[in-house]
Amino acid sequence: MASYLFLSLFLFFLHLYASFSSSGSHSCSSLIQFKDSFSIREDASFDHCDYFAGLKSYPKTNSWKEGTDCCSWDGVTCDHLNAHVIALDLSCSWLYGNFPSNTTLFLLPHLQKLNLAYNDFNFSKIPSEFGRFTSLFYLNLSNTWFSEVPSQVSHLSKLVSLDLSGFDELLTIDKYALEGLVHNLTEVRRLFLDEMDMSSVNAHVFMNLSSSLRSLSLVGCDLQGKFPKNIFDLPNLNLLNLGGNQNLNLDPLKFNRSSNLEQLIISDANICGGLPDSMGNLVSLKFLVLSHSNLSGLVPRSLGNLLKLTHLDL
Ligand SMILES: *[C@@H]1O[C@H](CO)[C@@H](O)[C@H](O)[C@H]1NC(C)=O
Ligand SMILES: *[C@@H]1O[C@H](CO)[C@@H](O)[C@H](O)[C@H]1NC(C)=O
Ligand SMILES: *[C@@H]1O[C@H](CO)[C@@H](O)[C@H](O)[C@H]1NC(C)=O
Ligand SMILES: *[C@@H]1O[C@H](CO)[C@@H](O)[C@H](O)[C@H]1NC(C)=O
Ligand SMILES: *[C@@H]1O[C@H](CO)[C@@H](O)[C@H](O)[C@H]1NC(C)=O
Ligand SMILES: *[C@@H]1O[C@H](CO)[C@@H](O)[C@H](O)[C@H]1NC(C)=O
Ligand SMILES: *[C@@H]1O[C@H](CO)[C@@H](O)[C@H](O)[C@H]1NC(C)=O
Repeated sequence: MASYLFLSLFLFFLHLYASFSSSGSHSCSSLIQFKDSFSIREDASFDHCDYFAGLKSYPKTNSWKEGTDCCSWDGVTCDHLNAHVIALDLSCSWLYGNFPSNTTLFLLPHLQKLNLAYNDFNFSKIPSEFGRFTSLFYLNLSNTWFSEVPSQVSHLSKLVSLDLSGFDELLTIDKYALEGLVHNLTEVRRLFLDEMDMSSVNAHVFMNLSSSLRSLSLVGCDLQGKFPKNIFDLPNLNLLNLGGNQNLNLDPLKFNRSSNLEQLIISDANICGGLPDSMGNLVSLKFLVLSHSNLSGLVPRSLGNLLKLTHLDL
């Protein structure tokens, strides 16, 4: 009984400590300062978030009030035990302005999830300080009008999901940054890099991607050179989208029986000749798009093996 009482008291004080811990309120002022570095403008989110993506944008930070507990603010998630901010979702939140490299956001070292998708950071570079978020396992900077990826993103070696997709090839990444990313992100399952400008990169840098990979999307990246064929054999890969890379060499296409691909999209690509017989090895395939390519010849009989197929676009 005594030990039970003691334990209860201990938990009670732990809870009190957590509620009032200085690290907690410190995080709240960091968040306020971060929010204050931007102006709030509907057009920073509307076109890409509401109009194209069909999501609902609104200024989440408008409900943030200084002096209240930030763990209850819209978009903020804390760890219950010690009130560390562990997740921040400000996607589609009308944030507009240059992203400061000295922002107090970088004072939240416990962040595990960060989503700033669909805001307008006015062509600023992604600050190299993002490399400090070494606890991050989810990072989403899609459609944010950033202009350059620093090599330090490769320090985020715990990332399970990385989305840097954009449009019009505004965001550039160089060979070294990409090499580091492929080398260090050994846990990554979802990698979305659509419409990044990779015109200075040989597709062969993707050769050693993690075997944990489930989804890889490289639409419209202007990839050059030969695509590493071992990607098709990654045992956990469900989704592969390589559409719109007209300089990418994919010949000869060959698929392995061990593949678990469910969605394969290689439209607007430079594939010559006919479909390979080995297409029939992709028995998990549900969604197949090979449109606007230079395919010719007969559709192989083996395509009849793809019993799960629900969408076929040739
Ligand atoms: C956006 O970028 C332009 C050009 O670099 C700059 O002149 C302008 O001040 C920036 N606007 C904001 C709100 O940061
Ligand atoms: C960041 O740097 C700018 C000047 O470059 C300064 O005005 C601003 O106060 C700094 N912000 C913080 C949070 O240190
Ligand atoms: C990134 O965030 C946007 C907006 O919330 C969402 O639609 C998209 O699916 C996210 N990407 C990933 C890989 O989670
Ligand atoms: C891999 O990540 C570690 C720290 O997380 C970093 O020190 C190292 O430089 C990174 N390597 C590459 C190639 O980026
Ligand atoms: C892939 O890994 C192998 C073995 O570690 C290495 O020899 C090769 O250079 C790497 N290739 C790329 C493109 O990083
Ligand atoms: C099929 O892929 C597996 C890895 O998933 C690999 O070990 C095997 O060598 C591949 N087979 C062929 C014929 O390429
Ligand atoms: C298809 O082939 C034609 C003629 O060989 C070539 O001009 C064209 O660029 C090719 N298209 C693609 C998408 O590779």
